[in-house]
Amino acid sequence: MAKVRDDAMSSKLPPVMGWSTWNQFQQHINEGLILEVAEAMNANGLLDAGYRYINIDDCWQGSQRDKDGRLQFDIGRFPRKEGLIKELNTMGFKVGLYSSCGKMTCEDMPGSYGFEDLDAKTFANWGAEYLKYDYCHVVDLPTDPHYMQENFATEMPKILYIAISGIGPDGYERQFPTADKLVLDVPRGGTYQVAIGYEKEKAHHRKFLLVTANNDTDAQLWFPPTSGWNSPGRITANIELKSGENTLVLTNPIQGQREDSMLRYSRMGKALKNAALPGRPIFYSICEHGRTKPWTWAGKIGSSWRVSHDIRSTWGGIMKCYEATADLWSFQSPGAYNDPDMLEVGIGNLSDTENRSHFILWCMLSAPLILGLDVRYTDAKTMALITNPEIIALNQEGLLLQASRTKLNDDLDLLIKPLTKTSCAVCLFNKSETPTKEICIPISELLKHDERVCFATNGVLKVPPLKAHEVALFLFDDQGNTRCL
Ligand code: GLA
Repeated sequence: MAKVRDDAMSSKLPPVMGWSTWNQFQQHINEGLILEVAEAMNANGLLDAGYRYINIDDCWQGSQRDKDGRLQFDIGRFPRKEGLIKELNTMGFKVGLYSSCGKMTCEDMPGSYGFEDLDAKTFANWGAEYLKYDYCHVVDLPTDPHYMQENFATEMPKILYIAISGIGPDGYERQFPTADKLVLDVPRGGTYQVAIGYEKEKAHHRKFLLVTANNDTDAQLWFPPTSGWNSPGRITANIELKSGENTLVLTNPIQGQREDSMLRYSRMGKALKNAALPGRPIFYSICEHGRTKPWTWAGKIGSSWRVSHDIRSTWGGIMKCYEATADLWSFQSPGAYNDPDMLEVGIGNLSDTENRSHFILWCMLSAPLILGLDVRYTDAKTMALITNPEIIALNQEGLLLQASRTKLNDDLDLLIKPLTKTSCAVCLFNKSETPTKEICIPISELLKHDERVCFATNGVLKVPPLKAHEVALFLFDDQGNTRCL
């Protein structure tokens, strides 16, 4: 079996490899299907090739939370409920689940907004080791374009006082005048109530305040729209304080959609870290569709981040995701990956050439390799492609750096992926609808396009004529050896 590293929150993990329910089955999923898929992946060598995650995308949930507020499986379709996860674990798989940072998911199932800690604990206790966290139903919040126009996200109410009360028998209670920052001593560590007294002013939108304790725990306070009849108002929330001195900072970090996204995703990221069971970290896949350039902020929070809207099983759809990712290589680092979305290899009407190019390009882009095809009925050619150890190694081994992309001309892309200090992979990719002629390029000239590659390889690279949409893939080492894959 391919070597799999287990410390998924450590910074050097390769991109995740696995299979997801979404691209082929969307809403039509149930435990029988997933178990059949797992059996097939075991039997046909996909698990051994490294595809170890089975990710159950949207629609695993029932529409209602349980009486304790926890998400639950749709038991009509998943009678084993979370027992399915253990069963898949026993078969050698890790299991991924899906939720949304909005009030609902993209398929209108309950989302995790406001339930981050509880949901992270639920997922961790069930044994999930991957969470895809989507961006849907973020509608009544500052990120909605209509509300953005009205510019309410940045507002904070006028604070009149801050009161901290102990929850428990000791009767601790202190009130402070308005401040951005305050230092207070509490007699014991634990949960406290923070109350904000504020001046109610007529407002059509909610206002927001984040109270952070010791740069660590926090409380979110939302001030409702109001006709402003009775002032002052009072809003309460719970916060964790430590015994002794605590520093509280009161801010509204939301300057717009970007900060709002960052806040939503970092809340779940933190919750997952806190909830993860020992030895079972949870790989955090941010699925914000590239709306607020997550490559500029998500590396600190998650393991991968979608850079675009959903991939489609057409060449045009694949190219949109490729183009959205190809120039983002400088934002990637080992363990933190741009995600051009799941693979469409073997789905739709892609030609053999297109399937091969798609797979190689995703490996070169250091993309998570999440298959979407129906692996129960995969033909031999497709299997040979997606289990090719040399191509998978480009994605999974070595320096774990995304290829750089240079446009040699409008139709021809050059991708260079440093693999080790002394080797790299190079792709020439014909994006056009017409074949290319043979090209001869001095290798030293070619490698100058990526300054991360600082070894010299002599000779001339002969690139054979490429069909429309075809990729030529070469491996170079500093001994002057070139191999065409
Ligand atoms: C969004 C995501 C998809 C998929 C669906 C599920 O569209 O981008 O990958 O998870 O939601 O509803």
